[in-house]
Amino acid sequence: MDYSSRWALPIILVCFLVVLLSNNVVFASHKVFVHLQSQSAVNVKTVHRTGYHFQPEKHWINAPMYFNGIYHLFYQYNPNGSVWGNIVWAHSVSKDLINWINLEPAIYPSKPFDKFGTWSGSATILPGNKPVILYTGIVDANNTQVQNYAVPANISDPYLREWIKPDNNPLIVADIGVNKTQFRDPTTAWMGQDGRWRIVIGAQRKRRGLAIMYRSKDFMKWIKAKHPLHSTNGTGNWECPDFFPVALKGTNGLEQYGEEHKYVLKNSMDVTRFEYYTIGKYDTKKDRYIPDAGSIDSWKGLRLDYGNYYASKSFYDPSKNRRVIWGWSNESDIYPEDDNAKGWAGIQLIPRKLWLDPSGKQLIQWPVEELDALRTQKVQLSKKKLNNGEKVEVKGITPAQADVEVTFSFSSLERAEPFDPSWADLYAQDVCALKGSYVQGGLGPFGLATLATENLEENTPVFFRVFKAQQNYKVLLCSDARKSTLKKNETMYTNKSSFAGYVDVDLKDNKLSLRSLIDNSVVESFGAGGKVCITSRAYPTLAINEKAHLYAFNNGTEPITIETLDAWSMGKAKIQY
Ligand SMILES: *[C@@H]1O[C@H](CO)[C@@H](O)[C@H](O)[C@H]1NC(C)=O
Ligand SMILES: *[C@@H]1O[C@H](CO)[C@@H](O)[C@H](O)[C@H]1NC(C)=O
Ligand SMILES: *[C@@H]1O[C@H](CO)[C@@H](O)[C@H](O)[C@H]1NC(C)=O
Ligand SMILES: *[C@@H]1O[C@H](CO)[C@@H](O)[C@H](O)[C@H]1NC(C)=O
Ligand SMILES: *[C@@H]1O[C@H](CO)[C@@H](O)[C@H](O)[C@H]1NC(C)=O
Ligand SMILES: *[C@@H]1O[C@H](CO)[C@@H](O)[C@H](O)[C@H]1NC(C)=O
Ligand SMILES: *[C@@H]1O[C@H](CO)[C@@H](O)[C@H](O)[C@H]1NC(C)=O
Ligand SMILES: *[C@@H]1O[C@H](CO)[C@@H](O)[C@H](O)[C@H]1NC(C)=O
Ligand SMILES: *[C@@H]1O[C@H](CO)[C@@H](O)[C@H](O)[C@H]1NC(C)=O
Repeated sequence: MDYSSRWALPIILVCFLVVLLSNNVVFASHKVFVHLQSQSAVNVKTVHRTGYHFQPEKHWINAPMYFNGIYHLFYQYNPNGSVWGNIVWAHSVSKDLINWINLEPAIYPSKPFDKFGTWSGSATILPGNKPVILYTGIVDANNTQVQNYAVPANISDPYLREWIKPDNNPLIVADIGVNKTQFRDPTTAWMGQDGRWRIVIGAQRKRRGLAIMYRSKDFMKWIKAKHPLHSTNGTGNWECPDFFPVALKGTNGLEQYGEEHKYVLKNSMDVTRFEYYTIGKYDTKKDRYIPDAGSIDSWKGLRLDYGNYYASKSFYDPSKNRRVIWGWSNESDIYPEDDNAKGWAGIQLIPRKLWLDPSGKQLIQWPVEELDALRTQKVQLSKKKLNNGEKVEVKGITPAQADVEVTFSFSSLERAEPFDPSWADLYAQDVCALKGSYVQGGLGPFGLATLATENLEENTPVFFRVFKAQQNYKVLLCSDARKSTLKKNETMYTNKSSFAGYVDVDLKDNKLSLRSLIDNSVVESFGAGGKVCITSRAYPTLAINEKAHLYAFNNGTEPITIETLDAWSMGKAKIQY
């Protein structure tokens, strides 16, 4: 592979979650468990470990980043424990985003400008093909955050194993008026028409979340812009901001920040621990982002994923002319002692290609095509009718580690249940909690029962439910982990959430499609071709490995037909530790 020809590519970034402690005081929603931070795993438990989702060999992982030519994943990692703490920038490389080689950490605390922590950041390729990483350094026990840079020690090393942190760091310190303990996660830089670089940094002022903008001519001296790129009152601290253009038409990614495009601003919200985005315009003269009318800029807004998903970063991938977004999923166990006993915590989800829906109102996400190379044994079903209460088993594959794509059809919308107007105030996930897969409906619930026992006493259903509201139909997609772990012999206390989102889909053709990536302790689902994505973590006690089953089911009075169902056993990704 000729790396030099790829070198001119822009880069990627990573994000991270932040947390911090001062004198052992817990800030924010990150919990700090000092006694466990450096407790090395004695045993690495393999039950529930994922087969094709990236995990480090052990311990805590939580943030991805991507880099030029070869794919680089930089992620926030605790080398010494399975809870958050001792965070370094671990580094892995890949040629296909699926199989990985782990390298030595790229950045770790060592200098006055980062000796209390090396947190998330991003990479940019400067003219002359010079990659540079911007990252947040912690300079004292009070959690003071500054922005630093690092450059490769040897640009000829295709893996860029070694990184140097020059002595003119930090580049940016918080000015008065910015809370220096909430000032982190610099984005990839982009250049404006005036030839100046721009970045944004996540921050908070009172209850207002901010994407503070800085500009620079030379990448070294940064000047804060008068206005943030964007801010929203009432949303608390913004972590891992990501700001990028999307094309009005087609599925290709964009690299240049021209005014003619649409834009996406995505933030990881510390308050709810979910990620939200809006679609809007970028006024390049005022250097401001303006969400479109109707693009909700708060908790009721669009999420990249309605489940267990955070700290994502996107990058433009010139080798396939696409934008790829990559998120992290934490474990859903409640006690850190359980992560410690497991010996590992946190996985990277499958990288997703992302583009603007033709409506211009939302994004579409789909697993990168490279994943398909792990598909092995395949089974198919078609034209299979499911009456109320019926289920059909998908046999002949490994249900604990599988990829399933299914299209359901129905003959009419008439039996859709009424949508109770009082639910309008609820989040989709609350409606899902009221109307589980076992509560009979009209049109739906129908979908897949994943990681299931034969009698479904243990299972994580992913299903649709269609409601008739006053003006329109509402399509709910749920991923309900409430029955994922049988209580009886539960060994680990987990947060078994029922996650859900409303799918903005045209029902004219009386069809709904669903894809689920099932991997031992994760079910990652894509509804209606990627309009709504939901990730659930599940820790079955019975439906493990070859004891897991997969079903398609219908619990609504309207008969449903499986038009086509394709399911594959998934191989193991090669991850070289
Ligand atoms: C991890 O533990 C080793 C051995 O105690 C120590 O040398 C190293 O500094 C620790 N790493 C971090 C990032 O704290
Ligand atoms: C941390 O903040 C406290 C209170 O403002 C101050 O007294 C102390 O000197 C600070 N410590 C450091 C290391 O900056
Ligand atoms: C830089 O990397 C190249 C390619 O791996 C290698 O041949 C060269 O020896 C390295 N230079 C140094 C100074 O390590
Ligand atoms: C800065 O943020 C921290 C963490 O949320 C908070 O505890 C502190 O009170 C804030 N400081 C100011 C001056 O607002
Ligand atoms: C921000 O929201 C708070 C309540 O959440 C409100 O008191 C305050 O007036 C708002 N500020 C602005 C500038 O709207
Ligand atoms: C991680 O797991 C805990 C426990 O289930 C959950 O409360 C939290 O919101 C999760 N997500 C993130 C992004 O931390
Ligand atoms: C469908 O409904 C029946 C009856 O309530 C229930 O036993 C079964 O578990 C439900 N199926 C799913 C996948 O929830
Ligand atoms: C469980 O997860 C839900 C949804 O994220 C959250 O609202 C709730 O606070 C979590 N509970 C615990 C105990 O972490
Ligand atoms: C849960 O209980 C079942 C039935 O007793 C047993 O077969 C299974 O191994 C147990 N699972 C765990 C994880 O303890």
